[in-house]
Amino acid sequence: MSDLDDNIQIVSLSAKDSAGLKFISDCYVRGLEEENQSSPLSSWRQLTADASQKIFCYFQQVLSSEHLKQVVYVAKMGDQFIGYIYVFVRKCEGEIPNEIGVINGLYISELFRNRGVAQFLLNKALTWFKSYGIAYTELTVNIGNDAAKSFWKKNGFNVCEYLLSKRI
Ligand SMILES: CC(C)(COP(=O)(O)OP(=O)(O)OC[C@H]1O[C@@H](n2cnc3c(N)ncnc32)[C@H](O)[C@@H]1OP(=O)(O)O)[C@@H](O)C(=O)NCCC(=O)NCCS
Repeated sequence: MSDLDDNIQIVSLSAKDSAGLKFISDCYVRGLEEENQSSPLSSWRQLTADASQKIFCYFQQVLSSEHLKQVVYVAKMGDQFIGYIYVFVRKCEGEIPNEIGVINGLYISELFRNRGVAQFLLNKALTWFKSYGIAYTELTVNIGNDAAKSFWKKNGFNVCEYLLSKRI
């Protein structure tokens, strides 16, 4: 894989960075909207009008916590945010291993896709997991999200469970 563009930097997002929080909240919503286009879930899963604001508050809260093991890495070109990854450590009581690395959000702005930005963000996140001794990671991906499925497959992620859903 080629090197990341020299102008692109990967940094860890602070809870005080309002512009960064706004970026990742908007991306989170856009990611859900994009996935909904190719998902059976879209028949019942909808976003509220204030989704971005709610997600902003969520990220502000979790990133302020000193007790949770989590990090948001953002990719920036100058002052412009162009992508992010959000990962955290999930406790699995009574299991071995008793901690799993969860990849909960990954989004690259459309203009910057296919330049290796997601790859660099993922590499940073995997290094972060390893710094906590985490050896296993997991994530969910929408069944119709072919670009993401290809990305994860390329990175050695395999399907090991199906998430079943039904409107009742
Ligand atoms: C999936 C996503 C994160 C990839 O980001 P990216 O920065 O473009 O990816 P990278 O350049 O680092 O990696 C490229 C690889 O991703 C996959 N990929 C990216 N875009 C693709 C597309 N349109 N079609 C198929 N595969 C694609 C391929 O495996 C590609 O490798 P290749 O060039 O050898 O085929 C990006 O498309 C995105 O943000 N999508 C919307 C949000 C989303 O779906 N997030 C993932 C949720 S699980």
